[in-house]
Amino acid sequence: MQIVPLSAEHELALRDFLADFVRVGESDVPGYFADASWSHDEIVANLAAGSRGEHLPEGWAPSTTSFLEDDGEILGVVNLRHRLTSPLLRCGGHVGYGVRPSARGRGHATRMLESAKQQARELGIDRILVTCDTDNRASTCVIEKCGGVLYDVLDGASGGTIRRYWIAL
Ligand SMILES: CC(C)(COP(=O)(O)OP(=O)(O)OC[C@H]1O[C@@H](n2cnc3c(N)ncnc32)[C@H](O)[C@@H]1OP(=O)(O)O)[C@@H](O)C(=O)NCCC(=O)NCCS
Repeated sequence: MQIVPLSAEHELALRDFLADFVRVGESDVPGYFADASWSHDEIVANLAAGSRGEHLPEGWAPSTTSFLEDDGEILGVVNLRHRLTSPLLRCGGHVGYGVRPSARGRGHATRMLESAKQQARELGIDRILVTCDTDNRASTCVIEKCGGVLYDVLDGASGGTIRRYWIAL
């Protein structure tokens, strides 16, 4: 099992990973930002460019996207924002992640958040903000296992609340 950037060899594995979310009706994969019209080569190139702060949509921070891969299968994705913008400060924070539905409950998100903490340390960041919906019990559990300290609880856009945690590095 390894946490790696997306490469040309991942084309079928990525397709299979995304299809797993669609199968259970999850249209959004947190931490994965790619246009559906892009070819696989464009996805690889654009994610790599995003980590260098190039070709970003207006107002976006540079971010590193990594994939948890096991024996050719992609199990999860994690995106580390290199700095916070005003919208990210309120909701989104430094890190977003998603684990394919068929591989949940095996510690993969915890593994990926720990890896994002290490990437952030290497970028010189001394604490990361991680946010999640209060009713996302699996994610709050992951954040707390990774050292998240609850900072506050805000009203969310769709009626629920958002929990904001800081993790000291
Ligand atoms: C949230 C998510 C990333 C968790 O991934 P995962 O690989 O299953 O997470 P882990 O296995 O590392 O840890 C999950 C923990 O939550 C716990 N958990 C899962 N469902 C739970 C629930 N309904 N209530 C309480 N705890 C729950 C598990 O028991 C586990 O804790 P444990 O290791 O102490 O037993 C995954 O469910 C997902 O991709 N969801 C959709 C996208 C998403 O919500 N991303 C996060 C946005 S903030």
